[in-house]
Amino acid sequence: MTVTEKKIAARIRSLKQERRAIILAHNYQVGEIQDVADFIGDSLELSQKAADTDAEVIVFCGVSFMAETAAVLCPNQIVLMPDLSAGCGMSEMISRDDLIRMKKAHPNAVVVCYVNSSAAVKAESDICCTSSNAKKIVESIPEDREILFIPDQYLGAHVMRQTNRKMILYNGYCPTHVRIMASELAEVVTEHPGAEVLAHPECPLPVQQSADYVLSTSGIALQARKTSAQEVIVATEIGMLHRLSHENPDKEFIPACRHCDCAHMKVNDLEKLLWSLEEMQYPVTVSTSVATSAKRAIDRMLAIG
Ligand code: 13P
Ligand code: SF4
Repeated sequence: MTVTEKKIAARIRSLKQERRAIILAHNYQVGEIQDVADFIGDSLELSQKAADTDAEVIVFCGVSFMAETAAVLCPNQIVLMPDLSAGCGMSEMISRDDLIRMKKAHPNAVVVCYVNSSAAVKAESDICCTSSNAKKIVESIPEDREILFIPDQYLGAHVMRQTNRKMILYNGYCPTHVRIMASELAEVVTEHPGAEVLAHPECPLPVQQSADYVLSTSGIALQARKTSAQEVIVATEIGMLHRLSHENPDKEFIPACRHCDCAHMKVNDLEKLLWSLEEMQYPVTVSTSVATSAKRAIDRMLAIG
């Protein structure tokens, strides 16, 4: 950290106390934000943390669907995002109307909704899931029920392989993870023959099939600690490498693709985080009617874990 960054970080820490605030950061956030955060995690852990905290203010450093989930779970707390433009390419691929059309075509299906979706889409869904609990959530649905899995076709395909369960998949995907190509990964593997390969389930299927483990971002962090391999190839957004290198200074982490960079995750920086706490900007709100229905789907997921 530079001297200026250290001063900003110190001011953030003192304002955090003054405001009785907690800073939650996703594993893809820039290193300086991870370093001042109270908690860093994947989508499931961040929503569990939001549901549990009694802080008056939650500053969410991630993208809008994550902050919206926190706002739905914590209607009596203030949820702030340092920059409201941090969206998610995948969540924008499905609208409430798209889902309603799909439900009309499959009226008896259970809708399993990946949390990377808007609150309005969650409100039309039966149960949410994240990359770390999708298998468990799908297994909780009676075998004779048809399942609509939205919006990520690659996470959906991964869960179908894990559970041997047929599902109807929406054709959404993460515009960042599709940049990881199996051919490029194969070249990196050739350069590092002893390396373990860890991939996120948002990666296209051929990339998942080349990996030793397919895991959520915090699952990747856990496996990186556990493995005896000295080199680990990481097939996910490159922000992940900060936490991995920080927690495992003795291991080398190699990105499967250097261009796997989520612009939305990177709109936050330390200055914006400081401004957010100074000015109590920018509040994230969800209308009561949408929040009530969305909360049902999120709560069902949290009850399963
Ligand atoms: P995780 O829940 O695994 O952190 O994934 C969130 C995400 O947006 C990945 O692109
Ligand atoms: Fe959305 Fe992909 Fe960015 Fe994750 S990496 S927030 S799924 S665009």
